[in-house]
Amino acid sequence: MATMAMPAESTQTMKAVVRRRWGRPRDVVELDEIRKPTLGDDEVLVRVHASSVNRSDYYSLGGAAILMRPMIGGFLRPKDERVGGDFAGVAEAVGKNVTDVRPGDEVYGVRSGAFSEYVTPKLAVARKPANLSFEEAAAVPIAALTALEALRDHGGLQPGQRVLVNGGSGGVGTFAVQLAKALGAGHVTAVCSPRNVEQARQLGADAVIDYTRDDYARGGDRYDLIVDVAGTHSWRQNLRVLVPGGTLVLTGMPMSSNRLTGPMGRLARLWLTSRIGRGRRLVFFVCKPNRANLATLRELIEDGKVRPTVDRVYPLAEVADALEAMGEGHTRGKLVVRID
Ligand SMILES: NC(=O)c1ccc[n+]([C@@H]2O[C@H](COP(=O)([O-])OP(=O)(O)OC[C@H]3O[C@@H](n4cnc5c(N)ncnc54)[C@H](OP(=O)(O)O)[C@@H]3O)[C@@H](O)[C@H]2O)c1
Repeated sequence: MATMAMPAESTQTMKAVVRRRWGRPRDVVELDEIRKPTLGDDEVLVRVHASSVNRSDYYSLGGAAILMRPMIGGFLRPKDERVGGDFAGVAEAVGKNVTDVRPGDEVYGVRSGAFSEYVTPKLAVARKPANLSFEEAAAVPIAALTALEALRDHGGLQPGQRVLVNGGSGGVGTFAVQLAKALGAGHVTAVCSPRNVEQARQLGADAVIDYTRDDYARGGDRYDLIVDVAGTHSWRQNLRVLVPGGTLVLTGMPMSSNRLTGPMGRLARLWLTSRIGRGRRLVFFVCKPNRANLATLRELIEDGKVRPTVDRVYPLAEVADALEAMGEGHTRGKLVVRID
């Protein structure tokens, strides 16, 4: 295995997006030169070609929910100045304990600080799908890993089941619709706004509900599994349309104008009310990116069963605009950041 030794403390610098205080994207995000990361024994040094924006990147700026700041790290100011999570690029060097990636491999995965020229992933790095460009591959990791975990691990999806994806048109939702079909769901319903109805059909949804006209919780259809990306309904409303034994897997919450708690107040209410389950259960989870799931996604993508939907590509210098767009809560597929 080829291994390249790195100095213990790098003196080289790289371009990276940073934020050194809490606030809204356009107020705090800047492009700067910072120290290039050094390579640990279990890590891969990746030259990043593209990244993509997730809601967690938006929340990590701490402007949307003051009470989230200690969870992000830091109270008066962020402990880690870097931003970003998803990356796709080329492995330049690998630590001595890394056996599944070699220098020169095209890889994708998750590592904090991915809006930068270099990252050093450890747990979540794998060869990228060969049939995707770097920009497309960067749109996959966090959103698709979340959708995969929601359906397969937390939702326990069984072949033939009826699935509803509430919020089937954004980052997580576009993957959830495709993955539900790929994992054998019998019938998949996507819920989205009118401008995204056709896209949801093209992704494989058997039925699409335009939420501006119809409310899925008032309809006559029943579901074994609801993957709720949008978080717009109460537990009581969801109970109406879940079959006995059915599961609601909640991945997210709507954007909130409460600057103190952000989405956390609503999440707490939903969780508390779900204690009265009436034979149905609610699961909330935080995605744990790993190599195995990245490899599963690579296979599904190379087999043509799943594809990322890229809404728009931004240059690194315009990450603040991409984050502002993410904060509006109506992204169509993924917002990608080109790093070159
Ligand atoms: N638990 C985890 O580990 C994890 C991981 C990743 C993401 N998340 C969370 O999951 C959520 C979604 O993330 P994302 O990256 O997919 O965000 P996103 O790209 O902004 O997508 C959100 C989607 O919600 C839809 N939506 C908005 N209002 C709606 C409504 N009233 N009814 C139904 N759909 C509605 C929007 O579709 P339209 O434009 O068609 O309205 C949009 O496509 C966020 O809250 C995020 O924090 C959690």
